[in-house]
Order: sequence, then C-alpha cells, then structure tokens
Amino acid sequence: MRPARLGGKVALITGSAGGIGGATAALFEAEGARLALTDLDAASLAPFVERGALTLSQDVTDEARWREVIDAVLKRHGQLDVVVNNAAMAIVGNIENTTLADWRKTQAVNSESVFLGCREAVRAMKGRGGSIVNISSVAGVIGDAQSVDYCARKGYRIRCNSVHPSFTRTAMVEGFIATARNPKRVREGLAAAAPLGRMGEASEVAAAILYLASDESAFTTGAEIVVDGGLTAQ
Ligand SMILES: NC(=O)c1ccc[n+]([C@@H]2O[C@H](COP(=O)([O-])OP(=O)(O)OC[C@H]3O[C@@H](n4cnc5c(N)ncnc54)[C@H](O)[C@@H]3O)[C@@H](O)[C@H]2O)c1
Repeated sequence: MRPARLGGKVALITGSAGGIGGATAALFEAEGARLALTDLDAASLAPFVERGALTLSQDVTDEARWREVIDAVLKRHGQLDVVVNNAAMAIVGNIENTTLADWRKTQAVNSESVFLGCREAVRAMKGRGGSIVNISSVAGVIGDAQSVDYCARKGYRIRCNSVHPSFTRTAMVEGFIATARNPKRVREGLAAAAPLGRMGEASEVAAAILYLASDESAFTTGAEIVVDGGLTAQ
C-alpha cells in the first residue's frame, strides 16, 4: 500500500462547508491529514467531528478570530503544516449596480482574509515549515496575477502557492446561474467557455490543492496553478 500523501500533517481549511472546501477536506482526510475545518457556521461540519476533526466557526474577516483559531489548532493537534485559504463569497452584480458596502465586503472576505490567514499561518509554521495554498480564481490570472512567494523569501521553509479554478460546479456558481434570466443558456455558456467543454468538479480542484499541500510539491512555491479546462490557454 502506498503511504498516505498527508500522513503526519495537520491541515486547516477555511470555507470547509462549501463545494471545493468540502471536497478538499474529504480528500485530505483520506490522505491521512489531521483536520481543522472552519466555516461561518461550524454546525454544517458535524460529520467531520465524528471522525476526529476539530471544527470551528470562523468569519475569516475577523482578525482576532484568526488568532484564536490558530491557537485552538495548535492546542488540539500540537502543530500546523498546511493552511488552505479557501473561504470566499461572490456577489452577482456589475459596476453600475454594486454598492460600495458590497464591494468592501467582497474585498474583506476574498482578499483581506488571505492576508490574515497567511500572517497567522506564518506565525504558526515558521519553526518547522509548511505549505499555504490560497484559492484564487482564473480571474486572478487573466487580470492582475499576484505573486505569492514572500513567505519563502523570509527563509521560513513555508511554501505559498495559489490555485485558480474557473467555473466549478458548487453553490457559488449555481447561485450565479439561478439569478440569470435564462439559466439553461448561462449554464451552457459557462461549459462552452473552456476548451474542455464543461465546468469543473470540486474534486478536480481539490486534487491540485492536495498536491500543493503535500511534500510532492516540496520545490514549488510562488506558483499559480490553473484548474480551468483550458479557459486561460485560449
Ligand atoms: N466555484 C467556482 O466556479 C469557482 C471559480 C473560481 C474560484 N473559486 C474559488 O474557490 C473557493 C471555494 O469556492 P466554492 O466554489 O467551493 O464556493 P462555495 O460557495 O461552495 O463555498 C464557499 C464557502 O465559504 C464560506 N464563507 C463565505 N464567507 C465566509 C466568511 N466571511 N468566513 C468564513 N467562511 C466564509 C461559505 O459559507 C461557504 O461554505 C473560493 O475561494 C472561490 O472564490 C470558485
């Protein structure tokens, strides 16, 4: 039998009640990781508790809560090796009908929280090293792609990479489709946007996250892995 790819590692995943977070949690569990899972409401993570995971309610925009979460993980598991900054939200709207309050909320949840998560991860990992995986989007590649290699430069042996999915069949995309005037046409359009001719599955994004979390990617840092059916390659 091959060794578990995350054997001996402790992994924290935010937004674990969602499509990609949930698929990642299940895959990490199957690969031997000890889990710390958070989402806005930890009640939705109950099945993982029965199997030994630490589950916590966490709003990733709450700076003080981040410290409490990391401290709770260290107390329960004694170490932290992997942080997946996955929680995010999507507001359907364009420049004309988006309020400043909605814009600020999206920035706080999708961007500021990644800064907070990275900062707290570095605090916990700088002794023994580790792996941070930030879940971004193909929008971050086509637009202003960010380099995330600053952790490694400090010589902490902490790798930091990002995964950029395109349209993936989760509640986030289903919510977007449901608000369209012609949901069927939008669904077909999203599938046709990529050369592979379909939307992605959460498990396919989780597989890329697993690679970056494991020691198989020991020499990979600052990388941006697209999981997009070829959307950005056209
Ligand atoms: N589904 C896609 O097509 C797609 C495409 C590109 C990028 N992504 C990215 O993948 C990641 C996962 O998205 P998903 O598709 O699984 O979405 P999802 O809506 O299924 O899951 C997102 C989870 O984040 C949680 N969350 C939202 N706000 C939070 C907050 N303030 N604090 C803590 N948790 C919060 C939600 O409760 C939910 O469980 C996100 O970072 C998203 O931007 C998804």
